Amino acid sequence: MSTPTNIAIRVPLLDLKAQYAAIRKDVDEAVRRVMESQRFIGGPEVSALEEEIAMWRMVPDAARVCLDLCTGSGASLPGLLRPGRLVLGIDASPGMLELAAAATAGPGWAPRLACADAFRLPLRDRSLDCVTIAFGIRNLRPRAGALAELGRVLKPGGMLVVLEAVAPRPGPIAPLHRFYLARLVPLAGRLSPDPSAYRYLSESIVEFGDGVQFERDLEAAGFEVAARRRFLLGATGLWAARRRPAAGEIQAGSPTAMQDARSALTAPGASAPADPGLEAEWRAWTWAQLTLAVGLVVALGWALVVFFKSGADLPLEPWQRRGLGFLIVAGLVLFVARSLMLATRLQGPASRRPPRTGL
Ligand SMILES: C[S@@+](CC[C@H](N)C(=O)[O-])C[C@H]1O[C@@H](n2cnc3c(N)ncnc32)[C@H](O)[C@@H]1O
Repeated sequence: MSTPTNIAIRVPLLDLKAQYAAIRKDVDEAVRRVMESQRFIGGPEVSALEEEIAMWRMVPDAARVCLDLCTGSGASLPGLLRPGRLVLGIDASPGMLELAAAATAGPGWAPRLACADAFRLPLRDRSLDCVTIAFGIRNLRPRAGALAELGRVLKPGGMLVVLEAVAPRPGPIAPLHRFYLARLVPLAGRLSPDPSAYRYLSESIVEFGDGVQFERDLEAAGFEVAARRRFLLGATGLWAARRRPAAGEIQAGSPTAMQDARSALTAPGASAPADPGLEAEWRAWTWAQLTLAVGLVVALGWALVVFFKSGADLPLEPWQRRGLGFLIVAGLVLFVARSLMLATRLQGPASRRPPRTGL
């Protein structure tokens, strides 16, 4: 297959049918199973909206060529589109790319999709201003190899923005987070036709770690962490890291040009050029999450009352009764905290916050 080229970088254009034949179907199948398991347990597929908006905001407005690596079904692509920007989506799974192609087709300019391995990107050295990876870096092992390849294709000063599910960090929420990964995710797997996808999900999150090692890996690969945030009570991490110029390299664009133009929003009295569509979507999504969280608080509160009134009559062993009581109380605490957090977020122009530092 000949690959038409673009003047700035070498981009294989979409020829999914031919690529599909060349790649084993079981890769698609494995990816689909993992993605479905995530959707089922309310993982990244379901909860990514707020994090994804934050990820898009970390992409410098001045970035002219952006790659969304491990793009999957292309959920992260729409927020990257800007007039005058070339957006690429790359994934190893042709099946996922077909979904991305279907989702991004339509009038207007569309992202270019390509099937390729993250370790051997079909891109020239220093051709990209920004790379985003949502829930993909965890799958790229050895990590040093993937980061080296990203360092190769990013311009000096270019930005790498990574969103990833992380393992528990020491703290008050850690036991609940550990319980979720070690017990609830595999339990959801046992109820599903494909437990291995769920096992992979929790194992790979634990293997990825709490983000501390990832930051060391970034530093070692020549990146400087510029911003970091946590979401979902610490279960998801977001990093923006700048590729340091190597010896003798000149940084692409002035530091001002590469800054997130939205950082101006932090200035007192600054106007807000945020996309109103995204803003409304974010607000609707946060309200939906809040409604669900409050509903769960009410349900768990009611369950607790019933448990205290007639828990002794339940045909359970004492340890099972204690476990049930613990689960109800833990769930109640978790969802009260979540409701408060969402309500606080809705108070102000939350989606316009500057990136917080400190995970
Ligand atoms: C959990 S999905 C994330 C998809 C998407 N970014 C999202 O947020 O919905 C991970 C994706 O990484 C892709 N992937 C895994 N290993 C890869 C590799 N070596 N090169 C390119 N893509 C890869 C998989 O095909 C899958 O689509």
